[in-house]
Amino acid sequence: MDDAAIRLAEPRDAFAVAALTLQDDRECGAVVEPGFLDRHADAWLADRARVTFLAEASDGRPLGVVTAAVVTTLPSSRRPVSRWLHVSLLFVTADARGAGLGARLLGALQEWCVANGVSRVQLNAAPRARTLYERAGFAPPGDDRLEWRVERDRR
Ligand SMILES: CC(C)(COP(=O)(O)OP(=O)(O)OC[C@H]1O[C@@H](n2cnc3c(N)ncnc32)[C@H](O)[C@@H]1OP(=O)(O)O)[C@@H](O)C(=O)NCCC(=O)NCCS
Repeated sequence: MDDAAIRLAEPRDAFAVAALTLQDDRECGAVVEPGFLDRHADAWLADRARVTFLAEASDGRPLGVVTAAVVTTLPSSRRPVSRWLHVSLLFVTADARGAGLGARLLGALQEWCVANGVSRVQLNAAPRARTLYERAGFAPPGDDRLEWRVERDRR
C-alpha cells in the first residue's frame, strides 16, 4: 500500500465515500437498507461543513476514508472565532490494513487543520483503534468537558 495516495475528497467521490461507509456499517453487523448509497451520497454532497480525505490505490480503487464535521463558533467579543472537527468515520478496507493508511489519513486531516485554522479535533475511539490515535497525538480532553445523553437521563 506504499503507492496509495491520500487526497481531499471531491464531489465526484460521493459514491466512493458512501461505499466505504457501507463497508464499515456491514463490518459492524448493520443491515444496510436499499438506496443507502444514494442517500449517503446526497447527504454528503449537501453537507458543506465537512472535510473528507480518501486513500486511493494506484489503480483508483478507494482504500480508506476519514470524514469530519466542521463546527465554527459564532462571533464573540471575548474570543476569536474558532473551528473544530468531529471525526465521524475513519475506515480502511480490511485488505489494506496494517500498512499505515489509517495513520496517513489522520495525518492528512491534522495537516488540513493546521492549514485551515482549525484548533481541535475530537472523536470517539473504538478500543482497538486507541493506539493509532494516541500515536497521532490524541489524548483525553481536559476535566472541564461534560456531555449530556438523552438515553442516560430519560430512562
Ligand atoms: C482503524 C483503522 C482505520 C486503522 O487502519 P490501518 O490502515 O490499519 O491503520 P494503521 O496501519 O495506520 O495503524 C494500525 C493501528 O490500527 C488499529 N487497528 C488495527 N486493527 C484494527 C481494527 N480491526 N479495528 C480498529 N482498529 C484497528 C490499531 O491501533 C493499530 O495499531 P497497533 O497495531 O499498534 O495496535 C482500520 O483498522 C479500520 O478501518 N477498522 C475498522 C473501523 C474502525 O474501527 N475505525 C475506527 C473507529 S474509532
